[in-house]
Amino acid sequence: MKNNRGPAATGRDRQRDVRGNERLTALTGVVLLVLSIVEILTVPAIRDPLSISLHLFVGVVLAGPVALKIASTGYRFYRYYSGSPAYRLKGPPRVLPRILSPLLILATVALIASGIGLALADPADPGPLRPLHHASFVLWLVLLVLHLIIYLKTVPGLISADWRQSKAARVNGRTSRATAQVAALAAGVIAAVALYPAFSAWLR
Ligand code: HEM
Ligand code: HEM
Repeated sequence: MKNNRGPAATGRDRQRDVRGNERLTALTGVVLLVLSIVEILTVPAIRDPLSISLHLFVGVVLAGPVALKIASTGYRFYRYYSGSPAYRLKGPPRVLPRILSPLLILATVALIASGIGLALADPADPGPLRPLHHASFVLWLVLLVLHLIIYLKTVPGLISADWRQSKAARVNGRTSRATAQVAALAAGVIAAVALYPAFSAWLR
């Protein structure tokens, strides 16, 4: 649709797109944090039937919000490198997160993939998947803690801005951002329900 509200209005809309993307990324971070804490809490008693069931289920559910986080940050990356003025104005992440965040994506994907591989393997002889899952966990935890040190303080402001009444804080797409979280979680749950029977050897 043609936008005939003038360049100033268009510029403002672009700024709102950037702020909306930032809020989506932060909200997805909170969902990931909650699920990650549940996942970590199952580890000390991982041989217990309830803990391992929860570990396998929540582990697969995590894949949905992880995909959403990769999509929202990938979108920012794409808009920045394709020269969008608003994303250029915001600039890239600072040097440290610019180096660490791609590694965090790799470690997260390795952790979930090695976990699923392990859960599909024979518990009596899982081969290198167990050390791989363990190593990716250690790397992931270190990177996640650093990521939290960098970003956690900005998260409450970014999330609460979506629920504040003031016009200045409002950014279109609040419902879409909430819907995206629900859709990502639903996709994770569907994947977990579908895969769960294949993990039966670990659940006996
Ligand atoms: C579990 C895995 C996670 C992955 C793979 C991940 C990945 C990323 C990536 C790739 C970026 C963009 C690069 C950057 O700005 O540094 C980013 C930004 C961000 N992340 Fe995470 N993240 C994760 C967890 C979290 C958690 C738990 C939180 C907070 C509760 C969080 C909050 C943020 C925030 C606030 C930003 C900056 C958004 C912006 O300014 O556009 N992330 N994350
Ligand atoms: C954020 C995600 C995850 C975290 C933080 C995590 C963490 C861990 C940790 C720390 C262990 C103990 C490893 C060791 O010391 O040897 C473990 C074991 C295991 N994990 Fe995960 N994991 C995650 C995702 C997954 C996923 C997605 C699956 C599969 C669906 C999975 C399946 C397993 C299995 C089968 C074991 C072995 C249990 C045993 O040795 O009895 N994990 N996980």
